Amino acid sequence: MRKGILSLTAAAALLTFGLAACGDDGATTAAPDGAASSAGAGAKAAGKVGVILPDSKSSARWETADRKYLEEAFKAAGVAYDIQNAQGDKTQFQTIADQMITNGATVLMIANLDSGTGKAVLDKAKSQGVATIDYDRLTLGGGAAYYVSFDNTKVGTLQGEGLVKCLTDKKADKPIIAELNGSPTDNNATLFKNGYDGVLKPKYDSGDYKKGPDQSVPDWDNAQAGTIFEQMLTEQPKIAGVLAANDGLGNAVITVLKKNNLNGKVPVTGQDATVQGLQNILAGDQCMTVYKAIKKEADAASQLAIALAKGEKPTASGSVKDTESGADVPAVLLDPQAIYFDNVKDVVADGYVTKDELCTGDFADKCTEAGIQ
Ligand code: BGC
Repeated sequence: MRKGILSLTAAAALLTFGLAACGDDGATTAAPDGAASSAGAGAKAAGKVGVILPDSKSSARWETADRKYLEEAFKAAGVAYDIQNAQGDKTQFQTIADQMITNGATVLMIANLDSGTGKAVLDKAKSQGVATIDYDRLTLGGGAAYYVSFDNTKVGTLQGEGLVKCLTDKKADKPIIAELNGSPTDNNATLFKNGYDGVLKPKYDSGDYKKGPDQSVPDWDNAQAGTIFEQMLTEQPKIAGVLAANDGLGNAVITVLKKNNLNGKVPVTGQDATVQGLQNILAGDQCMTVYKAIKKEADAASQLAIALAKGEKPTASGSVKDTESGADVPAVLLDPQAIYFDNVKDVVADGYVTKDELCTGDFADKCTEAGIQ
């Protein structure tokens, strides 16, 4: 009996990771999914989770939030893990994945740098029987077993609506809009743009707004964003609103606007509720940001990873369409929230940033004004 349970557990793990069941026990091949779950549930985690984050420059979130919350979840579950950051280097990304697999990872979770290299990593993992999760960014054509992210089209819609709200507050008349999009190789950037263009295009079509320059920023590179926006403003000095796809790009825009004494006059959007973005909002230089509760994202992804490491076959609440392969990928998609001056306090209340890091120096008075406790 005892032997039977053990071999069922082992078989469940083998089946889950796609390895050939090589045991001599005929019962192993008959283990249904349900048995895999229940057998794994009480079992000590045998697997190991490898996580590859994309970089630490395109957004503060990866190192300050994602790493922290993922680590907390894996530690709490007592699951072995290895979290590494590819620092924007695609070759390094693949090397890290290879090392993780060699070192015994049974689950690999990636936030890709582009779909091409992401797919190569996922293919390799799958060929070695390693379970795969796309974290935050969907790898197009990649065929990961799960995807965990936010509703990224909604993120873009909130940005578009935010810009409209701030322009309306300023009573802007036929404003010329500049769009600074995220990396052309990040599927999220495409989804964000679909979202905000869905709001802005009708305004362009009706003549309420004038479409100005519209450019993607390679690798979400903040420094390049500054150069690109500087050129935009030189060519079109009357830009009156900027849709910047995240706080880093927004800050690059604000730096250029400051040099031209236009900060606070030209509304700028953002995303990620970074300390810098929130401070720019408090200062009146940024119109809004989008808060994505990364703790929830990291919790959802780590729950899947932990279950997989235990040999279970977890189910996801929904699915998304991979636009390249046409496949439905089991997915967990969370809800983003728009943040303006008045509800910066929500981000603090949620514990995402602390009052101490936000309300430094000159920001202390602004924090009081914004009701930050
Ligand atoms: C993420 C954003 C982030 C951007 C740059 C996107 O894929 O969803 O939160 O700001 O990448 O790192």
